[in-house]
Amino acid sequence: MQIDVLLEHIGTLYTLEGEKRPRSKEALKAKGVRDGVVAVFDGQIIYGGAYPLPEEIQASENTQRVDCTDKVVTPGLIDAHTHLVHGGSREKELAMKIAGADYLEIYNAGLGIYSTQKATREADFQSLYDKARKSLDVMLAHGTTTVEAKSGYGIWDFQTEIKQMQVAHQLNANHPVDVVSTFMGAHAMPAKYKENPDEFIRILTEEMMPFVKEERLAEFVDVFCEEGVFDIEQSRRILTAAKELGFGLKIHADEIVSLGGAQLAAKLPTLSAEHLIAASDKGIQDMAKAGVIACLLPGTSFNLGKGKYAKARQMVEQGVSIALCTDYNPGSCPTENLQLIMTFAALYYRLLPEEILTAVTYNAACAIGRQEKIGSLEKGKEADLILWDAPNLDYIPYHFGVNHVERVWKKGKEVWRKAE
Ligand code: NIG
Ligand code: FE
Repeated sequence: MQIDVLLEHIGTLYTLEGEKRPRSKEALKAKGVRDGVVAVFDGQIIYGGAYPLPEEIQASENTQRVDCTDKVVTPGLIDAHTHLVHGGSREKELAMKIAGADYLEIYNAGLGIYSTQKATREADFQSLYDKARKSLDVMLAHGTTTVEAKSGYGIWDFQTEIKQMQVAHQLNANHPVDVVSTFMGAHAMPAKYKENPDEFIRILTEEMMPFVKEERLAEFVDVFCEEGVFDIEQSRRILTAAKELGFGLKIHADEIVSLGGAQLAAKLPTLSAEHLIAASDKGIQDMAKAGVIACLLPGTSFNLGKGKYAKARQMVEQGVSIALCTDYNPGSCPTENLQLIMTFAALYYRLLPEEILTAVTYNAACAIGRQEKIGSLEKGKEADLILWDAPNLDYIPYHFGVNHVERVWKKGKEVWRKAE
């Protein structure tokens, strides 16, 4: 068998080989192999492990050899929760935050999500596309090779929702980073339906969701289950309808107020529950039992500035599988940089680098239903790879706020390289 690309003499290789289901407890710890080698052919991994290569695999003069001495190689990072496509930015909220206003106060004042809704509605397709493409470039430069993208800034304006999802589709077709689309029409309660939320839920479930399904605009449906947004009963109705239509399910649960979103996620069950900053002990237990993946977003906790973080350590000890994501959006977490999130997870969640790595690769692949294709460097998987300019894994979250990626391959093709 031939080889297109051969990464050899790898200081430490993390293949993420292991249990074929979302990982927790001891299984969450990725294992490193010294003197590793990865062979790629036709966009796929044909070998990833300790030196030497199996006999049937041989390099030729056409093989591109990459010397990875004293460096780290991992799968491409997967960001399983973002609000990638949106118009405008919200730096004006910073002064309000500094003066002490919190997220829900800003939202209730008609700013927050509502102001991004206006900017997204006013932006045309091309400007939304160009802005999101720039963000994808930043993500790729920081090692992200697959990203989930939620709509949700159109809300009652379905044309804007459709525009956001079409931008995500076009980026998926044109950009090296794969984009997985989620419909989040239930992201804020539209002012004009505040007195009649049932009517909005009817439109969402009977008109918008069937259309999104029919046009294949999204794979998943997500709901912002939060005090003053969608309550437990409303979220249950929206997600039950989504399940009947054949969508995968996600829920923004217990982000700010402990409403019982984690319990609802376990009951339905959803594939993942996101945020969970205020999840109760019972909610965590229920999620462990039901196998709901916790998509944790420490960058959001950091940026909300209240010092409140999800109980990630407790979740792992109790058997919840966790993924770590940016939540990239213009309000609660304006960063595309998943490496920074890895640092926050170490410092504020007290997760180990080898746990964090699984949470941004294999478990994140599970959270978007892609674990058969990506998330580990095993034979037959897509060759999404990062060569890190770092002497060991710990160095990446430790030396924070800068980019440690040296080269990135997507489906076997080199798509990013650090300037010399
Ligand atoms: O995940 N919580 C709801 N949605 C986003 C924030 C969106 C925004 O503020 O624009 C989040 O934090
Ligand atoms: Fe979010």
